[in-house]
Amino acid sequence: MQQPITTLLPLLLFAAFPAPSNAWGVHGHLIVCKIAQGRLSDAAAAAVRGLLPSYAGGDLSSLCSWADDVKFRYPWSAPLHYIDTPDRLCGYTYDRDCKDEDGVEGRCVAGAINNYTSQLLTYHTASPSTQYNLTQALLFLAHFMGDIHQPLHVGFTSDKGGNTIDVNWYKRKTVLHHVWDDNIIETAEDEYYGEGVAEFVDALLQNITGEWSQRVQGWEECSKNQTTCPDMYASESITAACDWAYKDVAENSVLEDAYFWSRLPVVNLRLAQGGVRLAATLNRIFS
Ligand SMILES: *[C@@H]1O[C@H](CO)[C@@H](O)[C@H](O)[C@H]1NC(C)=O
Ligand SMILES: *[C@@H]1O[C@H](CO)[C@@H](O)[C@H](O)[C@H]1NC(C)=O
Ligand SMILES: *[C@@H]1O[C@H](CO)[C@@H](O)[C@H](O)[C@H]1NC(C)=O
Ligand SMILES: *[C@@H]1O[C@H](CO)[C@@H](O)[C@H](O)[C@H]1NC(C)=O
Ligand SMILES: [Zn+2]
Repeated sequence: MQQPITTLLPLLLFAAFPAPSNAWGVHGHLIVCKIAQGRLSDAAAAAVRGLLPSYAGGDLSSLCSWADDVKFRYPWSAPLHYIDTPDRLCGYTYDRDCKDEDGVEGRCVAGAINNYTSQLLTYHTASPSTQYNLTQALLFLAHFMGDIHQPLHVGFTSDKGGNTIDVNWYKRKTVLHHVWDDNIIETAEDEYYGEGVAEFVDALLQNITGEWSQRVQGWEECSKNQTTCPDMYASESITAACDWAYKDVAENSVLEDAYFWSRLPVVNLRLAQGGVRLAATLNRIFS
């Protein structure tokens, strides 16, 4: 039987634009970068402004998903968005886990954060013939700092960080990874933030200077005087993945209010920590 064209058309459009399914979605990355931007030192803000392409209008957050957009142009960068850890172990170590599927060491989101941090540290010394494109280094770093705070970007190997776990988010079919990239954030915006992402950012900023203010300095610090400490962020993520993301979820679970209510505070915290640490890292790099 033929479908009338009017009911087919939305289906076709939907099929032509599959939802992007890697990394905090666009809003998650935007939130992390917005939080960071407001916390930059004068020196870091000036360096960021200098490195951003002119079409960004000085706004880092407008390019925070650039690294996702270039995944096909730069296929080598795809493994740099996540870490696969051993199934059910709920732990991460750099030496064991930070590698790509071919086993090449350092090719994971923690290695990438170290990589682009050291490239940016040449900012003040780099001669014009520098081998690195520091604009790209900045955009990669800003993006990967978000990814490493998404708990399921440091997930189990066999389910690809929840990408192979089918679930329902309320009535909609999706995968667990996508729930943490996008759905929880979208539902929070629908429920609480009528004016969208800017209002979400404001609510997080309020808690950064209020509720969480005693803890923020601890988030910013790295041991051993390091410029950035992605291994710590990754360990926190796999712990949160086990305690919250994977917990009580099975193939075809229906996730709704109970899951949303209990997990949203974790998403809020990780977005805030990602933003605070991106700023702290950039401030140390450009100090
Ligand atoms: C480091 O950055 C360079 C330049 O973008 C890239 O070719 C290389 O794959 C990166 N390696 C890691 C582990 O991030
Ligand atoms: C550096 O990368 C940016 C973003 O991809 C690009 O617009 C720019 O042309 C690159 N600069 C150089 C010198 O290649
Ligand atoms: C801010 O903190 C309050 C009090 O703990 C909490 O109810 C609220 O959900 C938090 N909002 C965000 C966006 O973190
Ligand atoms: C930490 O780094 C700062 C700046 O590079 C340096 O002045 C200080 O001596 C270092 N401290 C330690 C304990 O390494
Ligand atoms: Zn990503």
